[in-house]
Amino acid sequence: MLGLLGDNGAGKSTLMKVLSGAVVPDQGVLYIDGRLATLKSPRDARQRGIEMVYQDLSLCDTLSVAENLFLGREPVHKIGGLRFVDHRTLHREAARILEGLQVKVPSVQVKVKHLSGGQRQAVAIGRAVSFDPKVLILDEPTAALAVREVEEVLALIRRLRSRGVGVILISHRLQDVMAVTDRIMVMYEGRKVSERMTRDTTLAEVIQLIVQT
Ligand SMILES: Nc1ncnc2c1ncn2[C@@H]1O[C@H](COP(=O)(O)OP(=O)(O)OP(=O)(O)O)[C@@H](O)[C@H]1O
Ligand SMILES: [Mg+2]
Repeated sequence: MLGLLGDNGAGKSTLMKVLSGAVVPDQGVLYIDGRLATLKSPRDARQRGIEMVYQDLSLCDTLSVAENLFLGREPVHKIGGLRFVDHRTLHREAARILEGLQVKVPSVQVKVKHLSGGQRQAVAIGRAVSFDPKVLILDEPTAALAVREVEEVLALIRRLRSRGVGVILISHRLQDVMAVTDRIMVMYEGRKVSERMTRDTTLAEVIQLIVQT
C-alpha cells in the first residue's frame, strides 16, 4: 500500500485523477505495467483495473445503498420489449458485496443520505471494489469521519490490502498513513519530491519532507 502525501494543493488529487482517467493530462505520459497507456475516461482506467474513490465521494444521496452500488449497471429483467430494474437481484447482490467486505448498513434499501459518514465511505469503497480493481485509489477516505468511523474505514482498507488489492491512500492523517502503508510518496507543487519505505522513516521525517521543500 502506497501513502500519497503533500500539503493542500500539492497535486495529489489531480495526479490520481490522471491515473483514474478523470483528468486528461495536457503533458506527460503514463505507463501501466511498463506499457504506454492513454486513459481518456474513468472507464478506460476501469478496464485496466484502476478504480478511484474521490475526495468528495461520488454517491447519489437520494438513491439507496444498492442503487448506488450498481449505478449505471443495474440488473434488469425484460418483459416484452421493456426493461425493468430487477430489484430483488439488485438488493441481493448489493448485500453480498457489503457482506464480503464486512460492511454493515441498516439495509441496502436505505437511502445513502441516511447513512453515517463512515458508512457512506464504505459504500463508495464497496462500489469501487465491486469492479475488482488491481489498484484502488482512496482520496482522503477518513477526512470527515468520527474517531470510531475512522477505525472502521482503516480496518476495511487493511482487509482490501490483505486480499491483494494495491491501495493508494491519500490522507492528511499522518499517523494513519504511517500505520497502514508500506511506502510513502511526498508531492510538492505538482511533483514527487521524495519517497520512503514506511518502516524506514518516522513521523517527524515525513512532516519535514512535506513542509520543508
Ligand atoms: N489543469 C490544471 N491546470 C492548472 N492547474 C491545475 C489544474 N488542475 C488542478 N490544478 C491546480 O493544481 C493544484 C493541485 O490541486 P489538487 O487538488 O490536486 O491538490 P491536493 O494535493 O489534492 O490538495 P488537497 O490536499 O487540498 O486535496 C490546485 O491549486 C489546482 O487548482
Ligand atoms: Mg486533494
